[in-house]
Amino acid sequence: MSTKQFIAEISSKKIEKATFTWQTPSNIALVKYWGKTNPQIPKNASISFTLNNCNTKTTIEFTHKQNSNNVSELENKVDFDLFFEGKKKEEFKPKIAEFFKRVQLYCPYIFDYQMIIHSENSFPHSSGIASSASGLSAIAMCLMSLESKLNTSLTKEFINKKASFLARLGSGSASRSVEGPLVVWGNHPEIEGSSDLFGIKFPHKVHSAFQNYQDTILLVDKGEKQVSSTLGHNLMQNHPFAENRFAQANENLGKLSKILQNGNIKAFVNLVESEALTLHAMMLTSQPYFILMKPNTLEIINKIWEYRQENNSNVCFTLDAGANVHVLYPFSEKESVQQFIDKKLYKYCQKKQYIYDSVGLGAKSL
Ligand code: DP6
Repeated sequence: MSTKQFIAEISSKKIEKATFTWQTPSNIALVKYWGKTNPQIPKNASISFTLNNCNTKTTIEFTHKQNSNNVSELENKVDFDLFFEGKKKEEFKPKIAEFFKRVQLYCPYIFDYQMIIHSENSFPHSSGIASSASGLSAIAMCLMSLESKLNTSLTKEFINKKASFLARLGSGSASRSVEGPLVVWGNHPEIEGSSDLFGIKFPHKVHSAFQNYQDTILLVDKGEKQVSSTLGHNLMQNHPFAENRFAQANENLGKLSKILQNGNIKAFVNLVESEALTLHAMMLTSQPYFILMKPNTLEIINKIWEYRQENNSNVCFTLDAGANVHVLYPFSEKESVQQFIDKKLYKYCQKKQYIYDSVGLGAKSL
């Protein structure tokens, strides 16, 4: 599929000042994205639950510059200031500057504006919860709000598609943070409309067993990750198991698609946990090898297995690229599993912190 459709036409319209605020969620992958090629093209398709409570709220104030475009465009410099939780954050600027560089071909109007960005997360800073997915999708939504003022013919469908496309250029998993409750990113033969370029809503009717699914995030280690996702993705190049892994992930997505439709929750538990452990197995077997799980990650996994066995429960876990554990369970088990977490799992969390979340519907304009 061509990327040309995402290049905004230069508009003769001039908007002096506009401010937009978006709240966009984090997401948790069920089939994992691990391995990519340039420019942010995934080696396999992935699928995630969109979250509800873990989100980023971002406001961008756009002011049209006097004698604007040519100078900044020639210098290839986008003019912006960044405030995080009320404070100016110079150290966050390079990542956002890199994002603007990657999207400027598709949003050439950004050279015409001075942007003041205010951003805050609903979850504790450096909790190990990936803020890049929610953070970059929020900026992408703000850009699309401006673009839709410059070109009023854009449809909601296109706006979401392009927002996901732009967010992906910042961080792959951010492409899955525009819509909900389930988003597929990456071309997959059994998922109609799926693409490597942007995320799409899971196109089939989902069984009621998976409605309002619950996710409690246990903050096992809130420290800076020793190995960034970007580095981890790169280690999948020349990884001895890479090709098998990519094939397996695509196969798993085909299987999960059926499970989500037929409500086979036992098969869901098995597939989701296996995906999480396989992701970490890729880390254990790359060169250089690394371990992101901590002793308490394993304690929690064992406790979940014990509880599941003893209570004939459907609770399960998944992991992202870190030590935190996402505890997933159906709405029907909300009360009992939350009691189990409050009584038995909280002690493995750093500063006893964990976050109750559930599946959400995606970006919201505020
Ligand atoms: C393990 O999206 O953070 O969470 O594209 O380099 O920004 P970049 O990577 P990122 O990788 C996410 C990896 C993962 C699995 C997933 O979310 O699918």
